[in-house]
Amino acid sequence: MTETRRIWLTGASSGIGARLAEELLSSGARVALSARTLPPLQALSDRYPGQVLLVPGDLTDSLQVREIGKRIAQAWGALDTVILNAGSCEYVDVRHFDAALVERVVRTNLLASSYCLESALPLLRAGVRPHLVGVVSSVTYWPLPRAEAYGASKAGLRYLLQSLRIDLAHEGIDVTLVSPGFVDTPLTEKNDFPMPMRWPVLKAARHISQRLEKRPLEIAFPWLFILILKLMSRLPGRLQLAIGKRLARTSDETPT
Ligand SMILES: NC(=O)c1ccc[n+]([C@@H]2O[C@H](COP(=O)([O-])OP(=O)(O)OC[C@H]3O[C@@H](n4cnc5c(N)ncnc54)[C@H](OP(=O)(O)O)[C@@H]3O)[C@@H](O)[C@H]2O)c1
Repeated sequence: MTETRRIWLTGASSGIGARLAEELLSSGARVALSARTLPPLQALSDRYPGQVLLVPGDLTDSLQVREIGKRIAQAWGALDTVILNAGSCEYVDVRHFDAALVERVVRTNLLASSYCLESALPLLRAGVRPHLVGVVSSVTYWPLPRAEAYGASKAGLRYLLQSLRIDLAHEGIDVTLVSPGFVDTPLTEKNDFPMPMRWPVLKAARHISQRLEKRPLEIAFPWLFILILKLMSRLPGRLQLAIGKRLARTSDETPT
């Protein structure tokens, strides 16, 4: 990014968000950083003095998110870019279907994002060439075994942002969705199944930050992985089910 933008980035304490924060800060942007874990945010603030606004908190708590919005408003008065990246993943064990797990994942990935939107939209309206970015997932292209909760939360977030894109268009607020395939982060570290075409986190963060300036509707990567998922989603339903069952068996057999 060439101009000095005022950016709010959530999920900046680890993984994609932490690397993306570095990319944005090293480009000269001012970045408000959110996550529950303060030390990594503080470390970025120390490394980029004067550029970081620390706005830590639990984004699943709507009151905390409102306070974060107020702090950004007091400090900057507006936001030019908002990147909703915070998220979590838990896998369903269908033998013991746990609705509380679904609730946790939906709360973090979908509801927390909408709390952030409530605080962010008035600030974006006061911003310069406002840009709203949401990190969804390639899981939304094709249902994966055990991803019932994660996939539903991200599919919900995808719909929410795509619908918002239409409603915000007349206000000049652009909306970009980011759909990563597998990226090496603490979130995927615990995965006990093969992760084809997995990217290192630095590559993913650079890929996202380099493309943000052009404001595409979607930043999806790696392209071959995305293409395969999109093609698979066009197969007849019975064939998709047969492939899904095979994948489910493979993940059952993979040692943890
Ligand atoms: N890695 C992948 O392969 C992959 C693929 C597709 C999509 N994604 C998406 O990319 C985004 C980043 O994931 P990642 O892989 O970088 O995972 P990560 O390393 O686990 O990072 C997740 C970030 O979200 C923050 N977060 C989680 N719950 C929060 C809460 N309640 N309040 C505030 N912050 C919270 C975490 O901070 P604290 O724990 O400090 O709060 C952390 O900074 C997520 O939305 C994920 O779904 C990742």
